[in-house]
Amino acid sequence: FTAKVMEGQHVLVSAGPTFEAIDPVRGLTNLSSGKMGFAIARAAHEAGARVTLVAGPVGLPTPRGVARIDVRSALEMKAALEAQAPTASVFVSAAAVADWRPATSQQEKIKKDGTGQVPTLSFVENPDILAGIAASPRARRRELFCVGFAAESHDLQTHAQAKRARKGVPLLVGNIGPETFGKDDNALLLVDEQGVQELPRAGKLPLARQLVAEISRRLPVVVAA
Ligand code: C5P
Repeated sequence: FTAKVMEGQHVLVSAGPTFEAIDPVRGLTNLSSGKMGFAIARAAHEAGARVTLVAGPVGLPTPRGVARIDVRSALEMKAALEAQAPTASVFVSAAAVADWRPATSQQEKIKKDGTGQVPTLSFVENPDILAGIAASPRARRRELFCVGFAAESHDLQTHAQAKRARKGVPLLVGNIGPETFGKDDNALLLVDEQGVQELPRAGKLPLARQLVAEISRRLPVVVAA
């Protein structure tokens, strides 16, 4: 970026999967690599923003100049994001948050008892972190601009438009298939109140830079007093 289009902004980004513990050595997670969220954090820093990155368990280096908070579960991710949201002006929710967590997490490792008995898992739904933050007064007043992601296997545009309304966010970004998890490139569909716009297939960093530029165009203009 030559133009520091994000100067003066505090950009909060979530990235990666969450890990929901079953017992001290086992858990449920997903195949999100965190690459898109990390690229967005890097691009926002390049564009002059203060950047806080809340990351689930991923094996990626922290982008230079970015403040990183590592979390494991969806509930930890929610707490970390909600602690940062009051000072943020942009929230990009790129994390693949687990929809469910085990209803109880065992304090001790579950043992095989040798009889062939298998444990039964029951689940509870995780809170929708993005929808919660998007419903906050600052987000409703657009002092905090919220961006959601959608990974859909079919009918991306229809699902992305519905998801934008359901989450209550001004901008929803769809990952255009095939499966993007772990890949180094991607293509994005931007859905906002104006309609849809495609960012053609490219590396995740160039795409992140374009996305950051698109977000900055949608931010309220601050008139200096
Ligand atoms: O509903 P779905 O998981 O498809 O929505 C994806 C979007 O919602 C992403 O931006 C993701 O980060 C966010 N999300 C969330 N909390 C959840 C589930 C998804 O913030 N529990």
